[in-house]
Amino acid sequence: MNFDEAKELLAGHGQQHLLNYYGELDAKGQAELLNQIASIDFSLLSGIGSGGGRVIGKLEPVQTLSIADVEQSKKQFMSAGINALNGGKVAAVLLAGGQGTRLGSDNPKGMYNIGVTRELSIFEQQFENIKQVTALTTQPFHIFIMTSCINDGATRKFFAEKNYFGYPQNMVHFFVQDMAPTCDLNGKIYLEEKGRVSLSPNGNGGWYSSLLGSGVGHIVEESGIEWLNVYSVDNVLQRICDPVFIGATLMHGADCSSKVVKKANAAERVGVLCLEDGKPAIVEYYEMPEDLAAATDKNGELVFGYGVTLNYLFKVQKLNGILTNKLPVHLSKKVIPHIENGVTVKPDQPNGYKLELLVLDMIKLMDSCLAVEVEREREFAPVKNKTGADSVDTARELLIKNGVKL
Ligand code: UTP
Repeated sequence: MNFDEAKELLAGHGQQHLLNYYGELDAKGQAELLNQIASIDFSLLSGIGSGGGRVIGKLEPVQTLSIADVEQSKKQFMSAGINALNGGKVAAVLLAGGQGTRLGSDNPKGMYNIGVTRELSIFEQQFENIKQVTALTTQPFHIFIMTSCINDGATRKFFAEKNYFGYPQNMVHFFVQDMAPTCDLNGKIYLEEKGRVSLSPNGNGGWYSSLLGSGVGHIVEESGIEWLNVYSVDNVLQRICDPVFIGATLMHGADCSSKVVKKANAAERVGVLCLEDGKPAIVEYYEMPEDLAAATDKNGELVFGYGVTLNYLFKVQKLNGILTNKLPVHLSKKVIPHIENGVTVKPDQPNGYKLELLVLDMIKLMDSCLAVEVEREREFAPVKNKTGADSVDTARELLIKNGVKL
């Protein structure tokens, strides 16, 4: 793309200011900026200014296997899950491209030391959980790790230093997620430097297209992987490729499934898996009408009482079928340093948006999603904040309760 083409493209989207400092750049800087401009997906910005939010359809509870239901069929589920794992039909996808801004560490979140008297990174703890599963199977499963270009180098280096936590290195594959531009509250894209567009990871919803577009995507088809277990880096009790969960999903013939936990209370800040206009959907806590969030059944239980834990199993065939579907863009208000009048400014208050696609929106594109309840105290210890709720402190407490020496 040359200067005139970039100018025309930007004019079509009201973003001409990205060339304000073009004349001050050297030839290399100019070429880099033009390349960046050529790769911007302007469609991501189209929802800004529309007032945000979405119209929620008719909500109903979704079919959920309670802990008691799972217990009843545990043997059969376990055996079906182990068969699938032994046949190499299931792989894991770790979403580790986030920036973990709430935790306030510059390192990848998985490197965070959750140990007290010894070093125990979140990554290591999750691999300990994984090894409990592979102790039951005839072969290890593939693990795809999504990073972003901000933390990719540090993540790979850490894994190499820690010898892949004893997991076979040839079964661990890194791929880098796509980036999205950041912008001000009116949708004007920010420059991070005079010759560089401000970009941030595009959320955890672009994982499948990023995986397929990467150098390791071919492994999915070539290895005959039929199911992908997608999970977040920030739950230290995360059970990955859990055979019972896999078996339950297979035996119910669902397109996808989600591990869910009973909500701690009506106001808990977790997304709820339910049916929206007859289709599976996750309604975020801030979208859920208050009366529905608090509604109880005849036993006094919350009607919409199951929160998602960011542990999903997706059928690959179904994922391939929805690849061209566009996911909604979520606007995440953040402090974004940028160039203004030729100098870098770092505001005190959120001044713009990061644009994110979310994995939870993929559920809506599935025809069926089975909710599988798991024990909260055994499987859900999110590490979102430094202190308080869902923090390092609460996660440590839960690890200790589960017999992990910290
Ligand atoms: P969060 O939504 O908690 O975001 O991620 P975050 O970036 O880690 O943390 P904050 O909001 O800045 O404090 C949930 C999961 O999705 C992954 C994260 O790594 C985590 O496993 N994620 C998030 C990505 O892989 N890519 C992204 O762009 C965002």
